[in-house]
Amino acid sequence: MRQPIAQLPGSKIREVANAGLGRADVLPFWFGESDEPTPAFIREAAIRALNDGETFYAHNLGLPELREALSTYIGRLHKAVVADRIAVTSSGVNALMLAMQALAGPGDEVVAVVPLWPNLTAQPSILGASVKRVSLVVRAGAWQLDMDALLAAVTSATTVLLINAPNNPTGWTLTRAEQETILAHCRRTGTWIIADEVYERVFFEGSCAPSFLDAAEPDERLIVAQSFSKSFLMTGWRLGWLVLPASMTDDIGKLIEFNTSCAPVFIQRAGLAALAGADDFVPALVQRLKQCRDTLLPQLAALPGISVATPAGGMYAFFRIEGQDDSLALAMRLVAEAGLGLAPGVAFGDEGEGWLRWCFASHDPSRLGLGVERLKRFIGL
Ligand SMILES: Cc1ncc(COP(=O)(O)O)c(C=O)c1O
Repeated sequence: MRQPIAQLPGSKIREVANAGLGRADVLPFWFGESDEPTPAFIREAAIRALNDGETFYAHNLGLPELREALSTYIGRLHKAVVADRIAVTSSGVNALMLAMQALAGPGDEVVAVVPLWPNLTAQPSILGASVKRVSLVVRAGAWQLDMDALLAAVTSATTVLLINAPNNPTGWTLTRAEQETILAHCRRTGTWIIADEVYERVFFEGSCAPSFLDAAEPDERLIVAQSFSKSFLMTGWRLGWLVLPASMTDDIGKLIEFNTSCAPVFIQRAGLAALAGADDFVPALVQRLKQCRDTLLPQLAALPGISVATPAGGMYAFFRIEGQDDSLALAMRLVAEAGLGLAPGVAFGDEGEGWLRWCFASHDPSRLGLGVERLKRFIGL
């Protein structure tokens, strides 16, 4: 086994979930997905495609009509992106891995803004690149970017800057001005930006979070990774896409051939239906998620000894309880003693140690109140 693989840490979210999965008395908020299934209009499109026998290999880069539909969808949210710049992938995580495979290998330096969903930092490690972590800083309970620290970390020795905003787990979001500053700096250092924008629609201060796509020119060193998982409740389908400089698309097509060859056609048909229904579906979903956020956050914030900031985007409350510094031990105790399933902050790196992540996406916001009651009992309130 190659050393980087043998050294990969196991998921600490899984460690907690494994202790509670299958227990009916545990309220699970540990994973990053809603408990609401994919809407019927999307499921039916996949069923129709299967019934039509669409079970064959397809183009590496995705169905031409899906790439066109994505181009139209993106163009309604951002600057125009031609279909030639789009590659359909088998999930957001696959999109991110393809981008990293294309750019970083042994000897390369990747700078990552953390805390961060651990898959993103594992990918360059798997490929043999080194990862330099730049931590967000907590100011008045909220996680924020220290721009000076980031710019100092990204030098001409940096091949890739990996940045996820809205951020999992903290909910931190970049402003347009910050994106422009980062982009200008990366132009100077010759650094690629891989922007993970899978939560761009799960944003509560406008219809879409600021995107690097609007700050950059089409041929710049920028790759944006996207997913159907969060905006369309399609986590289990494994469908995503990349936006690339057009000069890279053919090479990414080759990489897709050697990774997955193509996204399944019936899944892509479901993606087409999702995009066709996006204007009706996504704003209503985000409204429901906002209701979840606005149910959970004030209740959490009202508890003595708890620091939490209201996230502008994403599906998570990231909070800490005074005097509790071992997040894995705490999350395990919460499962065992309180029947409450949360993700330990340390799962997102040492920077998240002492914090807990609560995914608030639920079809039924009252479950969140039940969870808060369990937390209150646990901390003796
Ligand atoms: C920050 C971030 N990026 C990417 C993904 C990947 O999503 P998927 O692989 O389901 O498309 C996730 C999923 O939780 C995420 O939190």
